Amino acid sequence: MSLIEQAAKRLEQLQKAGVEVPGAEKPAASHGPSTPDAAMRAVDERGGQGPAPARAAARPAPASAERSAARSKRTVIDLQRLSGSGFVTPDDATSQLASEYRLIKRPLLDNVAGRSAAPVAKANMIMVTSAMPGEGKTFTSINLAMSIALELDHTVLLVDADVTRPNVMASLGLPESKGLMDVLLNPKLDLSEVLLRTNVEKLTLLPAGSGDTRATELLASESMVNLVNEIATRYKDRIVIFDAPPLLATTESRVLAKHMGQVVVVVEADRTTQGTLTDALDTVKACPVVATVLNKASRSDVGGYGYGYGYGYGYGSGARSGSRKSKKVKG
Ligand SMILES: Nc1ncnc2c1ncn2[C@@H]1O[C@H](COP(=O)(O)OP(=O)(O)OP(=O)(O)O)[C@@H](O)[C@H]1O
Ligand SMILES: [Mg+2]
Repeated sequence: MSLIEQAAKRLEQLQKAGVEVPGAEKPAASHGPSTPDAAMRAVDERGGQGPAPARAAARPAPASAERSAARSKRTVIDLQRLSGSGFVTPDDATSQLASEYRLIKRPLLDNVAGRSAAPVAKANMIMVTSAMPGEGKTFTSINLAMSIALELDHTVLLVDADVTRPNVMASLGLPESKGLMDVLLNPKLDLSEVLLRTNVEKLTLLPAGSGDTRATELLASESMVNLVNEIATRYKDRIVIFDAPPLLATTESRVLAKHMGQVVVVVEADRTTQGTLTDALDTVKACPVVATVLNKASRSDVGGYGYGYGYGYGYGSGARSGSRKSKKVKG
């Protein structure tokens, strides 16, 4: 490819990412897809596109994904410890939990592969959230990321976007290191310099990074939107999972949700009331796909199989809503 072709391609990528390039015409906005179904799945105990950002942050053009991979640091997850803590790992692909996560990820991956009833834009950008703190977002994000990374044809980037209560690294038994916040605070720092490749070949991590008193505002900032769009463009072949803050405690996740293709709302069994869940789901109704995952359900809750289908929500144009009744969610 000639330099001019490369520059034209780059320009197109930037415009797709919503970056305003002086002197360049903006492409016509494409509209969000209609919505496929989203199913609620249960995990047993242990066992629309938003509008383009108005202005680009002053960040240098990113390196290519290939160059990033070469530059990123590598870390080693203690998989035995992780398995002992009840997470999915490559060695226990046949466990009950692993098979539950196979069911949870399937509809998400179908949307990524375009196998759903309607195409889902940015389906590879998946945000995991919940109504309230402590419902199992980090547990779900890690298990989902691990489960997808164990597939032959998917690479995964797990982003700790819960910047005020980061817990991905600690849950994986890893020390905190530079990450999302650092990239947002320092435009000269390239994403590839803070990404961490792991001993799970297809799993890369983006830690939350240095604590900052402005963490909450940064997460809902234009720079964050630009970064999310940069990730979506630069790693469009990857599944990107964001462990995000709860929806009702703060507003950042709602802003973030507008830039995701799919949102997974974790619901803690026997704790989250139906009213709370309805309020939470209302905040992300603009997202093309919203799926719910029932977490910490006892086996009897899910018919003795360890998982079960509850209600599902699909929002957006042409959405079909499922029944809101479930014995696992208190009214
Ligand atoms: N299915 C599960 N079985 C057993 N323990 C679980 C399960 N899901 C989560 N936990 C445990 O519950 C606690 C809270 O989970 P987790 O940290 O994932 O929640 P969170 O929603 O990310 O919390 P926060 O809002 O603080 O970030 C953790 O100790 C976690 O190990
Ligand atoms: Mg968490």
